[in-house]
Amino acid sequence: MRKIYKTVIDGIGCALPEKIVTNDDLAKVMDTSDEWIRERTGIRERRVAEADVGTSDLGVTAAKEAIKNAKCDLNDIDLVIAATLSPDYNFPGIGVLIQDKLGLKDVAGFDVRAQCSGFAWGLSAADAFIGSGQYKKILLVGAEIHSKVLEFSTWGRYISVLFGDAAGAAVLSAHECVSSDLYPHAKNNQERGIIDSLMGSDGSGATSLAMLRPGMAAGYEDFVTLEDVEKKSFHPVMEGQLIYKNAVRRMSEASATLLERNSLNASDLDLLIPHQANLRISEALRKKLGLPEEKVINNIQKYGNTTAATLPLCMDEAIKDGRLKPGSLVMTVAFGAGFTWGANLIRW
Ligand code: ACO
Repeated sequence: MRKIYKTVIDGIGCALPEKIVTNDDLAKVMDTSDEWIRERTGIRERRVAEADVGTSDLGVTAAKEAIKNAKCDLNDIDLVIAATLSPDYNFPGIGVLIQDKLGLKDVAGFDVRAQCSGFAWGLSAADAFIGSGQYKKILLVGAEIHSKVLEFSTWGRYISVLFGDAAGAAVLSAHECVSSDLYPHAKNNQERGIIDSLMGSDGSGATSLAMLRPGMAAGYEDFVTLEDVEKKSFHPVMEGQLIYKNAVRRMSEASATLLERNSLNASDLDLLIPHQANLRISEALRKKLGLPEEKVINNIQKYGNTTAATLPLCMDEAIKDGRLKPGSLVMTVAFGAGFTWGANLIRW
């Protein structure tokens, strides 16, 4: 009989820089206020990495923690997937850097470029690799350093107040199971593991939230030009209200689709882990799904939007405070630049 594998999350880890920057700290360097930021986003403070730390370093710290929590032998890891929009270098990606820094000799490492949806897409990709039998123990990392590219001034305030630096990681392993354990009604299926995942994108929104320069885009002779520096066009750009509307719409639709195709109602979920873009976005999603506050994890207040790291950061927190335990039925859902969106249904 053909072997069938389910993907189980064995351990989660995270890395948070020690330096805390509060809204009041930001108000000292730009025209903003704690009230403006909190009312519109829920954010109170965020973490900022020191100059001698790179995105891959944060990823390695989170990975080591996840490996320890998973009680996993480092040498068993046979694939590294890294999600980031803020890699150490334009190329290569951080997947290979994390692989090398962990000493995982010759193990493949690649990057997922799905921005805020990166961790959800990484879970989806890891599940497909494990399900096919190609890999048995996958390290998935979501790592970001935003602070080095944001401008902490009134000019950059519309975007710089939103983001924070952090990394999160998961160790995913193959659990052999019989076919009847794989596809029964998710509500009754107590078999641990990823039940279903969804990924979507709409590239027509690509330039609405993006870092457009430097790059190889048509119309530019060089990767980086003097004009880029003069016009500060290497900073990210964002159409805030368009992103807000699309985030609510796509996360609601993705959640509804994933629940429906698994014959579930939102009330069947023990926990919803939404990408932490903005507390108001998470609240709008919670209300659309009709979930009580205690079933939705939010920690954007402490960390800001950490892009590909928000989902594992929430998982880590929920494990530590007892809201996420073996047997919990959990759904993650994310939306990000691209536009991209994704969701995962997991029996923890
Ligand atoms: N402090 C004080 N004032 C500010 C700031 C700031 N940090 N930033 C902008 N303003 C000003 C603007 O200049 C504007 O002033 P004006 O009225 O004199 O022109 C005013 O505040 C209102 O600006 P808006 O952009 O209209 O504010 P809005 O209510 O839309 O809130 C926000 C902005 C918070 C960015 C909102 O649009 C939003 O949350 N969008 C979603 C964006 C998001 O989540 N991005 C994350 C990445 S994508 C993802 O993770 C899904």
